[in-house]
Amino acid sequence: MTVLDAAYQQCINPDCAAQFDCGQSMFKCPKCGDLLDIRYNWDKIELPRKLSDLSKRWATRNNKLDFSGVWRFRNFINFCDDKFKVTIGEGQTIFQQNDGVAGYVDMKPGCLHLQYEGMNPSGSFKDNGMSAAFSHALMVGAKSCACASTGNTSASMALYGHSCGLKCIVFIGSGRIAYGKLSQALEYGAQTLQIQGDFDDCMKQVQDVCLQLGLYLLNSLNPFRLEGQKTIMYRIIEGLGWEVPDWIIVPGGNLGNSSSFGKAFLELKELGLIKKAPRMAIINATGADTLTQLVNNKKLTWNNGKINKKVVNEFYADLTAKKFSPHTCASAIEISRPVNLSKCLRAIDVCNGVVRAVTDEEICDAKAVIGRYGLGCEPASAATIAGLKHLRAEGIVGANERVACVLTGHVLKDPNLTVNYHKDKKGQFSNPPIEAPNNLDEIIKLIRS
Ligand code: F0G
Repeated sequence: MTVLDAAYQQCINPDCAAQFDCGQSMFKCPKCGDLLDIRYNWDKIELPRKLSDLSKRWATRNNKLDFSGVWRFRNFINFCDDKFKVTIGEGQTIFQQNDGVAGYVDMKPGCLHLQYEGMNPSGSFKDNGMSAAFSHALMVGAKSCACASTGNTSASMALYGHSCGLKCIVFIGSGRIAYGKLSQALEYGAQTLQIQGDFDDCMKQVQDVCLQLGLYLLNSLNPFRLEGQKTIMYRIIEGLGWEVPDWIIVPGGNLGNSSSFGKAFLELKELGLIKKAPRMAIINATGADTLTQLVNNKKLTWNNGKINKKVVNEFYADLTAKKFSPHTCASAIEISRPVNLSKCLRAIDVCNGVVRAVTDEEICDAKAVIGRYGLGCEPASAATIAGLKHLRAEGIVGANERVACVLTGHVLKDPNLTVNYHKDKKGQFSNPPIEAPNNLDEIIKLIRS
C-alpha cells in the first residue's frame, strides 16, 4: 500500500489532536473517541494559484478523473494514489439560477441558485462521498463494508461497493425508508437488514458490527467520505464564475454535508484561495430538530473545539427518558443523534451559520414549488427552500443576496410522498389527478373546465 505523506488523520478534539496515517481505517479517534479529520500537508501538494485554474480540466474530460465532479478537484482531496481512485461519473450536477423558486421565497430575480445533486449515479449527493471513501477502502484492502441509512447512503454504498467488488451490508430502520431508495439497495445487491428501530438505533448497531466483524464503515463518521462531499462547494463556486455566494443552505440530518462544507471553506480560506467564507443555514425538520434545539435554545457552540459535552449528553439523556423517536415526512433527515454534531458546530463557526427547523407541511409545499419550476427533488432537499422562506421573512437573508441551496436528492426517490401530497390535496400546490370517463366529449369538457 502507498500511504501518501501529504495527508494524515487527526482527532478534532484540541485536547487530544492525535494523528494517524491514512493507511489505517478507523471511524473514531482510538485515543479519545472523538471524530477524525483528514488533514493535509499543503506544502507537499500541487495547488492551483487561483481557483479558476481548475477550469482547464474541462478540456481533458476524456480522462475519467477529470470527468469526475469529485476528482476534478483532487488537489484538495489528496489522500491516495491515482490507482485507487474510484469514479463512476459522480458530480455531473446542475447549478441552476431559478427565478421561479426565487419568487416563492421573496428573493430578487438572479439571486437564487439550486445546486442539484439528484443527477448523481445513484440519484443523491452521497455519491460524492462514496467515490472518495471507496478509494480509501481499496487503498486499505477492505473486502466488505456496511452502513446505517435512511436510504440514500445505502443506495449509494451498494452502487459503489458493487462496482468495487466489495460485499455490502446495509442497516435500515424498519418501515423508515422511502421506496425508491430501498429498491436501489435491493437491486444493487446489498444484503439489507431491516432493524426494528429508527436510524439512530441502526447507527449504533452498525458501529458495533463493523468493529466486531472488521467491516469498512461508510457512514459520514468516515472522514474520507466528507472529503468527497467538499466538492459540492467547489462546484457551486465554479458555477458562480469562481466566486463565493453569500449563503449556502443545506438540510441537516446526520450533519455530514454541513460539516464537510465548513471544512471546504476553512481550507480554501487558509490557502488564500477565497477571501471570505459564505454564511451557512442548516435546516432541520421540526420532528427531528436536535441541532436547532442545541444551537438555538441551549446555545451550544464550537468554542474552539472545547464543546460543552455536558449539554449534549443531558439533551440525549432526556430524549432517552422520553423514549423519543424522531418523525418527519422527510425520512432522509429523520435523525435525532447526529454523529457529526461537533464538526457541524465548527462549520457554523467558520461560516457564521444559522439553524432553523421547518414543518412537514412547509417542506411538502416547498418541494412542490421546486418541482413545478424545473428540478424535482426529495422532501429533505426541499427543507432548504422552506428554511430560506423563514430566513427571508425574518430579514436574515437579504432579497439581493446570492444564495445557493443544495438539493440533495432526486424527486423519484420518494414517489409515494409526492403522489399522496397531490392526490390527497394536502397542500397549497396539490395537483390531483382527475377521474375521467372513457368518452371524448366528457374528456374535452374536463380539459376546458
Ligand atoms: N438530504 C438527503 C436526500 C439525505 O439522504 C440526507 C442524509 C440528508 C439530506 C442529510 O444529510 O446527514 O449530511 O446532514 N441521508 C443519510 C442516509 C443519513 O442514510 O441516506 P447529512
